[in-house]
Amino acid sequence: MNILVAYHSDTGNTRKIAEAIFSAIRDTRKKLLPIDQAVDLAPYDLIFCGTPVQNHSVHPKMVRFFQEIPKAKKLAIFLTHGSLRGGEKAVSAIYHAVSLSSGQTVIGTFGCRGQVKPQMIDIWMDSPQHQAWAREAQSANGHPDAADIEDAREFAETMLYAAEHIHGSGKKS
Ligand SMILES: Cc1cc2nc3c(=O)[nH]c(=O)nc-3n(C[C@H](O)[C@H](O)[C@H](O)COP(=O)(O)O)c2cc1C
Repeated sequence: MNILVAYHSDTGNTRKIAEAIFSAIRDTRKKLLPIDQAVDLAPYDLIFCGTPVQNHSVHPKMVRFFQEIPKAKKLAIFLTHGSLRGGEKAVSAIYHAVSLSSGQTVIGTFGCRGQVKPQMIDIWMDSPQHQAWAREAQSANGHPDAADIEDAREFAETMLYAAEHIHGSGKKS
């Protein structure tokens, strides 16, 4: 199997998770690339796609990247987000990410918290309707932490197993 771990990261959180996933992949061909540098996607059987959540969805660069992925590929999507893990905001962002894939086979998803830029929290704190969200986002400080990294490694191992055992749609790109 040939695997690409492609990610976008503005402040480093998603990159840390991408690196954890990459290091957990063993005994196969693999590459780790920011999506800006992931140009030729044809050689890969499984593509991990990582993005920060922005405005309840994926980063705009990742929206474009999804459109470039050939349909026959298997995808494993991972996100970092300021909101609570497993909470409504995080879950709906994951659903939204999956809905953006177009014809590829999504074999799994992973999300964990990622600390939010202090400047953004200050801006949200100043706005009464965003204060509750700002406090939630603030509590992501210190993430991704060691437990998040370990979870990401387990996710990678599960996805490797799934990629071997789940058959795609068979559509050609
Ligand atoms: C402009 C902006 C919008 C964001 N919107 C959300 C959001 O809607 N939901 C959320 O959970 N986190 C949101 N975040 C927090 C980021 O998803 C989180 O900090 C992420 O880990 C950043 O990843 P990166 O370091 O790889 O860029 C937002 C951050 C920024 C800067």
